Amino acid sequence: MHISVVGTGYVGLVTGTCFAEMGHTVTCVDIDAAKIDGLKQGILPIYEPGLEDLVLANYKEKRLRFTTSLGEAVQETNIHFIAVGTPPGEDGSADLQYVLAVARELGRTMVADYNVVVDKSTVPVGTADRVRAAVQEELDKRGSTIKFDVVSNPEFLKEGAAVDDFMRPDRVVIGVKDEQAAKLMHELYAPFMRNHEVIVTMGVRDAEMTKYAANALLATKISFMNEVAALCERLGVDVEQVRKGIGSDSRIGPHFIYAGAGYGGSCFPKDVKALLRMAQENGLDAWLLDAVERRNDRQKQRLFDKIGHHFGGDLKGRSFGLWGLAFKPGTDDMREAPSLVLIGELVQAGAKVLAYDPVAHETARRELPAEWFDNGSVRFVEHQYEALEGADALVLVTEWKPFRNPEFATIREALKTPVIFDGRNQYDPEQMTELGFVYYGIGRGKAGG
Ligand SMILES: NC(=O)c1ccc[n+]([C@@H]2O[C@H](COP(=O)([O-])OP(=O)(O)OC[C@H]3O[C@@H](n4cnc5c(N)ncnc54)[C@H](O)[C@@H]3O)[C@@H](O)[C@H]2O)c1
Repeated sequence: MHISVVGTGYVGLVTGTCFAEMGHTVTCVDIDAAKIDGLKQGILPIYEPGLEDLVLANYKEKRLRFTTSLGEAVQETNIHFIAVGTPPGEDGSADLQYVLAVARELGRTMVADYNVVVDKSTVPVGTADRVRAAVQEELDKRGSTIKFDVVSNPEFLKEGAAVDDFMRPDRVVIGVKDEQAAKLMHELYAPFMRNHEVIVTMGVRDAEMTKYAANALLATKISFMNEVAALCERLGVDVEQVRKGIGSDSRIGPHFIYAGAGYGGSCFPKDVKALLRMAQENGLDAWLLDAVERRNDRQKQRLFDKIGHHFGGDLKGRSFGLWGLAFKPGTDDMREAPSLVLIGELVQAGAKVLAYDPVAHETARRELPAEWFDNGSVRFVEHQYEALEGADALVLVTEWKPFRNPEFATIREALKTPVIFDGRNQYDPEQMTELGFVYYGIGRGKAGG
């Protein structure tokens, strides 16, 4: 099948590439000419494990094409995925300007007799109707009788494991009314269903809500655990033991119950906000979602609070070695990363930050004021231990694998004072004490207070 995918970000590029890998012919479209030029030269705009090899191989085989022109892409395609950003607007609702711009452009340009427009972007309930109206308006202007349906096909991939998730999805949700569109979507996903059939077909609005409900529930689990962690600290309880104790309960499950420095990324924060906004617009008090968000905002300050408390409230002239910048391991995505909040607070308090991340230096640099680099408040280093040279403490913010089992002797030697703030509970408090560190985790009872 020939398809177009509009937007070559984390979702669009992975979607297009994985469809191409399964034998479909895919044209990826982006308005960012630099991204498209780079992709044509084999330079990826994002880091995602395993993606580069697939892009290069499929581009070489001409199953994957790149263009800035949607008009060009739709000449040969009749299934069009919209995978552009839906960032939060000022009031927290999803900003649909990019989605609707693509819809209008599709209406202006599509040529096939019958088309399926697929909303893959995360969009509020009712968006498919707005997309349909936008496409139709442009078709009417052309006096065109072209037929089309709008389908909701939310994406559930995780950054850092996006290719694997797309290739072996837990489920594929397809919100669809029309039978012809449903049939085409099933054919499209058929290569991913060889071992297990996991397509869940439902109404369009049901599918739109499913995506928000999934992300909001995962965010809720994290905030819940962070709240439990705060109580654990007061009561001398180790939240890691509690996590193991509850995670083995099949009704609860082991995932997304890790206490830490707060959730970030492009999805949870914005999707919780958008769902809250949907509730408000429909006259509903979404107390739980409100609390989830407030707990997370608070959580992003926990490391700074602990650091400030340890050093008696005065951080002027101190320096801190940060391990991890990306919002989670496996990605270079810095959107809403807890590290940004921490770095900002440390710099405001007069401290210096030496930071190391395996892949996110470039994206992180774009998120921070240039003057902090110019005046030496923030510096990125090439090796994890270099970040600790003469630092007052190690602060672990993102649990990349190389940070999980580091050389503690090297850490001790490098640090001015042997203090570790572990924002992801990677280390064992007792072992840390035995090794001579002052250790702070999140919710680790006496050791993490
Ligand atoms: N990132 C994730 O892990 C993830 C997971 C599931 C769902 N989603 C959702 O998928 C959508 C895309 O997210 P993302 O992280 O891939 O975004 P992104 O910001 O990484 O990429 C969006 C891309 O769309 C391009 N674009 C914007 N307007 C365009 C237009 N008119 N024509 C062509 N290209 C255009 C941008 O240049 C950019 O390259 C969002 O709605 C997001 O909520 C994201």
